[in-house]
Amino acid sequence: MSPDALRRQLEYYRDLGIKDLYRKDAIPIVNIELPGLAPTGDSLPRILKDIGDCTRCRLHTGRNKLVFGVGNPQAKLVFVGEGPGADEDAQGIPFVGRAGQLLTQMIENTAAKEGIPLKRADVYICNVVKCRPPENRTPEPDEMETCGQFLFRQLSVIQPKAICALGSTAAKALLGGKDGVTRLRGKWHKWHDIPLIVTFHPSYLLRPYNQNAKREAWEDLKKALHFVYD
Ligand code: URA
Repeated sequence: MSPDALRRQLEYYRDLGIKDLYRKDAIPIVNIELPGLAPTGDSLPRILKDIGDCTRCRLHTGRNKLVFGVGNPQAKLVFVGEGPGADEDAQGIPFVGRAGQLLTQMIENTAAKEGIPLKRADVYICNVVKCRPPENRTPEPDEMETCGQFLFRQLSVIQPKAICALGSTAAKALLGGKDGVTRLRGKWHKWHDIPLIVTFHPSYLLRPYNQNAKREAWEDLKKALHFVYD
């Protein structure tokens, strides 16, 4: 069997939740190591192809369109949200609803104010889960884990200079741990050696009583933009 075929076979077992494999004829039991998550020569089209018409978790049942990611595949800055909402599910593009319009404004207006020539199309935007959770609920841990492997591959392929995690779901998926945005925001963290900043999710900022968070989110974004583009 070729290494690629073996990798696909093992990924299939992993998707079924099987982590340990035992060789048929071996008397001493052999635990076969799963190969690294990203295959050699990985690319965004390859990841999309591997996701395919995904039925790995329950979220596929309510999906209209899978929402993979949008933007510059060589982006220096990647934004990671939680999961598609209704507009994103209808269009297959992340952050196109109200929260998305706010994110676009935040990126473009903050960059313009700071003298950085940057448009939304220059960054890359994706989510932890690629299918819309019912009623926009928070993705369950098993859904995040199943879909997270594709997010990790996207980030590994793009290799941005920095990642901006929008909200606590993205922060948890990328940093682990239980801390929420209030604790994590404004400071630099790391995802596999790539600097990562956490800030509020734009949906949270749309609520009228969160004006203070809005100011803080703008500060976080300024910090990220100067780090990446100065
Ligand atoms: N919220 C998200 O987290 N992602 C989207 O794509 C849209 C809204």
